[in-house]
Amino acid sequence: MTDAPIPVPASFKDARITPERYAELYQRSIADPDGFWCEELKRVDWIRAPSQISDVSFDRDDLHIRWFEDGVLNVAWNCIDRHLPARASKPALIWEGDHPSRHHAITYAQLYDHVCRFSNVLKGLGVRKGDRVTLYMPMIPEAAYAMLACARIGAVHSVVFGGFSPEALAGRIRDCESAFVITADEGVRGGKPVPLKANVDAALELAPGVKAVLSVRHTGADVGWVEGRDHWLHERLLDADAHCAPEPMNAEDPLFILYTSGSTGKPKGVLHTTGGYLVWAAMTHAYTFDHREDDVFWCTADVGWVTGHSYIVYGPLANGATSLMFEGVPTWPGPDRIWEVVAKHKVTVLYTAPTAIRALMRFGDEPVRAHDRSSLRLLGSVGEPINPEAWRWYHQVCGEGRCPVVDTWWQTETGGHLITPLPGAHALKPGSASFPMFGVRPALVDNEGNRLPETGAQEGNLVLLGSWPGQMRTVYGDHQRFIDTYFSTYPGMYFTGDGARRDADGYWWITGRVDDVLNISGHRLGTAEIESALVAHEAVSEAAVVGYPHDIKGQGIYCYVTLAAGREPDAALEKALKDQVRKEIGPVASPDAIQFAPGLPKTRSGKIMRRILRKIAEGETGALGDTSTLADPGVVDSLIAGRKG
Ligand code: PRX
Repeated sequence: MTDAPIPVPASFKDARITPERYAELYQRSIADPDGFWCEELKRVDWIRAPSQISDVSFDRDDLHIRWFEDGVLNVAWNCIDRHLPARASKPALIWEGDHPSRHHAITYAQLYDHVCRFSNVLKGLGVRKGDRVTLYMPMIPEAAYAMLACARIGAVHSVVFGGFSPEALAGRIRDCESAFVITADEGVRGGKPVPLKANVDAALELAPGVKAVLSVRHTGADVGWVEGRDHWLHERLLDADAHCAPEPMNAEDPLFILYTSGSTGKPKGVLHTTGGYLVWAAMTHAYTFDHREDDVFWCTADVGWVTGHSYIVYGPLANGATSLMFEGVPTWPGPDRIWEVVAKHKVTVLYTAPTAIRALMRFGDEPVRAHDRSSLRLLGSVGEPINPEAWRWYHQVCGEGRCPVVDTWWQTETGGHLITPLPGAHALKPGSASFPMFGVRPALVDNEGNRLPETGAQEGNLVLLGSWPGQMRTVYGDHQRFIDTYFSTYPGMYFTGDGARRDADGYWWITGRVDDVLNISGHRLGTAEIESALVAHEAVSEAAVVGYPHDIKGQGIYCYVTLAAGREPDAALEKALKDQVRKEIGPVASPDAIQFAPGLPKTRSGKIMRRILRKIAEGETGALGDTSTLADPGVVDSLIAGRKG
């Protein structure tokens, strides 16, 4: 990168974090963490303030992570009740429906009413503190009410993205032994219905332990009904009390489970707890977005992902912000939808994903320029590395060159931002996640686990040297898997699964996953999950899945498939395999390319050499590296000859 960094604009000179303040606070957060967190934890209201800050060990034989351990609080109280004296009539949520004619605001007073009554409905169905409740919802305010109602009564929500299939939903319901499901008759995206209730019905055939299903009537579509199990929210609300006392929760009580893909096995239930997560979500929302009281904050993520948890619901609402929730897609009814919404609701901060930016870029500048964007003051990016070309377009065209772009690097596991520029503190380099958040100690290690020097330009595997309050605490029901996944590759450190480089100026650049996790349009999928969906088809004998560069999605899904004896490849089978993956996982995992292969490249001990498969999928067939350890080097030539795309 030869261009000079883009300096902090004049409009951010009075930001809460200036360059000097960043240096001072970061230093303090590392040198005197107790002092730093004693101040920061005050951004949350505690029923009993904690006297202990942290008790952490990354030692795999004694792994534990505890923050604010003896503190007592309630997340819903913090996101709603405490704002009522000053912000009762301020919009907490602005809902923009899939169809542009449908939108309305929900004030903090109304949010209180909705969440209290929802909480009482849940109690009436038998939900108790500690119970797991699965949400399979469209992007409607009831999704936020449901999350906050769980938090209010101490139930643990597990939100499953509405794009996952009934099979995937069933697996997640079973894994956390959830006895309650909240859904809607249908969702709508881009004018098309999504059959949520029907998917739940199909899932429950495979997950029979569910006692109650609560449905929101959203589109009014006809849905199947199981008497005694199924309930309409609107009917249950009729006699629900309008007040519900928030349950006092210990800081380390679970707040939610969110399933995410890893490099092996089934998706894991990432568990976040109450106190540390809330402090982290609120703090990062305030600092990264330089939150101001009159902001209209729009995070375009779905609540089914961690970004929606932390930056549509918990972070903004804990800070008393106005958070915009959008049901639709960025390109419907036209490619100017995002900018129409920005103008309509006078959005000040827009937080979206590189895949959306790249998709919109294809339509040119006109749809952007057609709408007034003078309300915007800050732009954010999340979910995958942003290529400098997309960054510049976002900055120059969408943000008129006025608005800083904060490229926030983090993970489901981290609860909130770990590496990001702060708009008032850092000059920006397009494509760089820039600097660590307060309290975060990133470092680089080589493949043998040796720490790379802390100065000068370096590239390696990204690890974190200590804990932060928003860190996940365990894999639900499988603590050993938590230890094995994150703390065993490089003992004593948290391994992120990402590669990164730090340039000579100390800026961090995330280079992407170094494990078998794919990032498809910002959606995280494991190659192992897709492979197991493929081999579940009777025609398939073996499958290997890799990612390859894709102009819009960032990465595409490339599948190598070896057929069972006697089976011949044809277009119908290719379609059947794509359908199989959609059925097992969901449309988000649809393969982009399937290559039928007579054999896969293996070492003599039978291990598939994915490095070679990746190179072939990427089209870099001239740079395959050492193939001398292959059991049958001839396989490679036939794979190259049969390459798709
Ligand atoms: O590879 C990194 C990528 O997304 C992964 C985490 O995915 P998930 O848990 O689904 O959370 C996504 C939302 C935080 C990371 O390991 N990633 C996320 N943000 C960035 C990123 N890669 C580069 N730059 C980012 N800003």
